[in-house]
Amino acid sequence: MMIGQADKYLSVAPMLDWTDRHCRYFLRLVCPSCVLYTEMVTTPAILLGRDPHRYLEFSPEEQPVVLQLGGDEPEAMARSAILAREYGYSGVNLNVGCPSPRVQKGRFGACLMQTPGLVRELAGALAESGLPVSIKHRLGLDRTENYDLLARFVETVSAGACQHFIVHARNAWLKGLNPARNRQVPPLRWDWVARLKTDFPALRIELNGGIQNAGDLAQQWQKVDGVMIGRAAYNQPLFLAEAEVVLGRRDRLPEVDWLLQQLEEYAVRWGEKLPAPRLARHLHGLYHGRPGAGYWRRLLSTAAAQETAADFLRRVILCLSRKNSPAEMEV
Ligand SMILES: Cc1cc2nc3c(=O)[nH]c(=O)nc-3n(C[C@H](O)[C@H](O)[C@H](O)COP(=O)(O)O)c2cc1C
Repeated sequence: MMIGQADKYLSVAPMLDWTDRHCRYFLRLVCPSCVLYTEMVTTPAILLGRDPHRYLEFSPEEQPVVLQLGGDEPEAMARSAILAREYGYSGVNLNVGCPSPRVQKGRFGACLMQTPGLVRELAGALAESGLPVSIKHRLGLDRTENYDLLARFVETVSAGACQHFIVHARNAWLKGLNPARNRQVPPLRWDWVARLKTDFPALRIELNGGIQNAGDLAQQWQKVDGVMIGRAAYNQPLFLAEAEVVLGRRDRLPEVDWLLQQLEEYAVRWGEKLPAPRLARHLHGLYHGRPGAGYWRRLLSTAAAQETAADFLRRVILCLSRKNSPAEMEV
């Protein structure tokens, strides 16, 4: 599936420090049909940083992968998006949802919701690259819970180049909550996202926030053009494969053995350049809710910085193969 087709999107949220290229490679193995997003990268990091390549490079197998950008200057946005096109990304996304103090200081992220005209301009700058453009935003700011304001925001922005809105279905609080708390508080309002779809049927409206089980996913899927999953995708990656089953995109979950073999092949390609902890850190949820989860975590805790990910995975696969049954893995 490529970005731009009429299909509904199942996607994995951009998550700073989590959805790096190794994590995305792993999630792609788990979920062939989803759209993956990078961590947020700021335009100064790309345009002025010492090593933009580090932020932008990815493996072709990750596609479709969308670059999420943070910033508030149209010209820098346009230049960054052109670089994104040169690197081969499937789309660019503007962060209008992050409430962290550092991001607020840079006057981008969620505080851009106060200036829909600027968001429209930034989206226009992104579109100069020719890539599909989306924005990821909140319902509103602080304690102002007002659907009409949200609708006006979407109306203003969609008068420009952006026709794809990914809505994290809760307000961003710029004061009084840290970003982690602000992913739990205030309450979610999925119904507002469905209402946006009813009010703006021509736009692509994607729901994000709090989807953690197949029942909620299947229900919300009917009402919008896509669902983006964040923490549940990272903490219990096989949920993504379960989502594909629920949505009729595959018949059964992938085998863990197969996933580990594929990852080993990937790690062999990286050799010395991929130390074990850099890959192992993304695998902690692989046995989530399954027999052997404790054993699995103990294995992961042995990943050492001096070891390559390839050697580590070889060792892990051998250890698992010596356990004949899930019951043995409990020991
Ligand atoms: C560790 C972490 C890092 C995040 N970093 C970003 C980010 O870089 N850009 C962004 O738009 N949202 C970021 N988010 C928010 C998620 O994309 C998502 O909107 C949020 O977690 C709600 O979805 P969920 O309930 O499915 O997790 C982050 C969330 C987490 C947990």
